[in-house]
Amino acid sequence: MGTMLVTGGAGFIGSNFVRMVRERDLAEVVVLDTLTYAGNLANLDGCDAEFVRGSVTDAALVDELVGGCDTVVHFAAESHNDNSLRDPSPFVTTNVVGTFTLLEAVRRHGTRLHHISTDEVFGDLPVEGEEKFTETTPYNPSSPYSATKAGSDHLVRAWVRSFGVNATISNCSNNYGPYQHIEKFIPRQITNILDGRPAKLYGTGAQVRDWIHVDDHNDAVLAILERGRAGETYNIGAGLEKTSNKQVIEMICEIMGGSFEHVADRPGHDQRYAMDAAKLTAELGWAPRYTAGLRDGLEKTIAWYRDNEAWWRGAKEGVEKRYAESGQ
Ligand code: NAD
Ligand code: DAU
Repeated sequence: MGTMLVTGGAGFIGSNFVRMVRERDLAEVVVLDTLTYAGNLANLDGCDAEFVRGSVTDAALVDELVGGCDTVVHFAAESHNDNSLRDPSPFVTTNVVGTFTLLEAVRRHGTRLHHISTDEVFGDLPVEGEEKFTETTPYNPSSPYSATKAGSDHLVRAWVRSFGVNATISNCSNNYGPYQHIEKFIPRQITNILDGRPAKLYGTGAQVRDWIHVDDHNDAVLAILERGRAGETYNIGAGLEKTSNKQVIEMICEIMGGSFEHVADRPGHDQRYAMDAAKLTAELGWAPRYTAGLRDGLEKTIAWYRDNEAWWRGAKEGVEKRYAESGQ
């Protein structure tokens, strides 16, 4: 794949992706990341990749970097729903304007782009029922975060159709695994219990997420880069057993020996996400590797956070202080 520009490569999914690409020696990698609170250079320790600190909204820098690479994989985003409810502004700037800036650069240079998106663009499904999102489900985002991701997907499609840009899109469900910021559900609970605090469940905890291990997500991204059809969108989801937030938190408490409490619910809280990944499987032959169930993946993830306290400790107090301000 020549030289690959990975935006947001110092974040959770992006850094796991860079590690995978370098370990398999698939491409030379240049990471572009502005290092927000969610970006961490330590995530790239031991990865043989060039790092450039800068924003995807910086048109001159983006043009220069895109001009020097063969492929762009666009992970950079403001990614946390709760933050988008507190202050949507950086979400519009990075997710919408940043994607626009990148699209203009790949259009000028004729560079291949893969855009990383989310299942949240489709809105949500009733908790009861088995219906899943497909690639043709109409967009119906709920939060400022998901609305800006939906906007970025629309921009990519428009640039494909109007300007012939060579791009693909993937929409993935909730990831978990190593290097995930501790503001997110699973690492927040693991680190709460490690700290002797109760885990925190929003509302009743009846909501359902379609959990996927980050390596399964990144395997799928590589399959799309290698064999995906230009202009196409692919849904990514592992299709594990339907598990509510309450069941996930109970599993974590059982494995670690902790307890949980109910806290204020998220305004506009999406009820259920579920992805139909049949197109990805049928066309590209992708299948998840983490098939032993969520419990197995959680045990490995818990072990990682236990073994890497130095990685998360510095962020813990600030994260919990911000949540406490919203009664969460
Ligand atoms: P993250 O918040 O852990 O990482 C985001 C990275 O982007 C950080 O390193 C941050 O510094 C960087 N960044 C932010 N603004 C930037 C800017 N203006 N310029 C350059 N870099 C910038 O996020 P994540 O969970 O790794 O998500 C990565 C991508 O995957 C996002 O596009 C997100 O929408 C998408 N996604 C995430 C999930 C999930 O479960 N986490 C699921 C589906 C899709
Ligand atoms: O579905 C894909 C999306 O998954 C990605 O696009 C987002 O970037 C990613 O952050 C994630 O969004 P969610 O809002 O689903 O994830 P989060 O980890 O914030 O919350 C997961 C569920 O757990 C959600 O129903 C809210 C709930 N929750 C969250 C936290 C932080 C709790 O019950 N307690 C908590 O402390």
